[in-house]
Amino acid sequence: MERKPLIAGNWKMHLSIEEAVQLASSLADCCRGGLDDREVMVAPPYTSVAAVVKALKGSPIQVAGQNVCWEKEGAFTGEISPVMLKEAGTTMVILGHSERRHIFGEGDELINRRLQGALAFDLTPILCVGETLDEREQGATFDVLERQVTKGLQNVAAIDAAEVVIAYEPVWAIGTGKTASNDQAQEAHKFIRGVLAALYEKTLADKIRILYGGSVKPDNIDSLMAEPDIDGALVGGAALKFESFDRIIHYKI
Ligand code: 13P
Repeated sequence: MERKPLIAGNWKMHLSIEEAVQLASSLADCCRGGLDDREVMVAPPYTSVAAVVKALKGSPIQVAGQNVCWEKEGAFTGEISPVMLKEAGTTMVILGHSERRHIFGEGDELINRRLQGALAFDLTPILCVGETLDEREQGATFDVLERQVTKGLQNVAAIDAAEVVIAYEPVWAIGTGKTASNDQAQEAHKFIRGVLAALYEKTLADKIRILYGGSVKPDNIDSLMAEPDIDGALVGGAALKFESFDRIIHYKI
């Protein structure tokens, strides 16, 4: 298995351009020259992307968009194109985040279109999936995960699927301080890997990185990363402060 862990910070709708540059510069200083066994990414709001890319120049930290349209250009008010994101210096993009799904009504088909657009323009998609508390309590977790993974990857060929990163983010754990237990997270990740193996094949599923997201903090990252199917983290709140994200980047198992 060659899965290089990925620690990703999702800055959501936080930080001014100045604050974003400050945080990026501190991260660049701490990561210069020392990250061979893991990848690090941050996803700032669009207005800060170019400035953050500049601040991270020469460091191994990558920058991602928080969403993307499938078209190169056109009449799509409020959207951002994959070409624009690439021009600004991003290499990855977060898709289907639970806030996009539940606050802005994005569904599996739309998310699949976005994912195909990202792949067509060589941006690594991070496809977020995860059940709500209601769905978990009704015993529907696996059905939801299977549907979101399958529909999110509809018509995606194996060669492209190999580039995709999945993020398991149980909605009830996002921003609540309630992390999934290591067992709950591992169980979901293993299930998702099984879905990927059924859609493609086991060797491919074994190469796809599955990140955990939902109240990841300095004090739970080490034990989460020790689980065999957890290949990294998608961090919200704790990615906004240098000290906490720095500790998460430098997790120890
Ligand atoms: P928190 O880490 O703040 O729970 O957010 C998780 C998340 O949504 C990352 O995309």
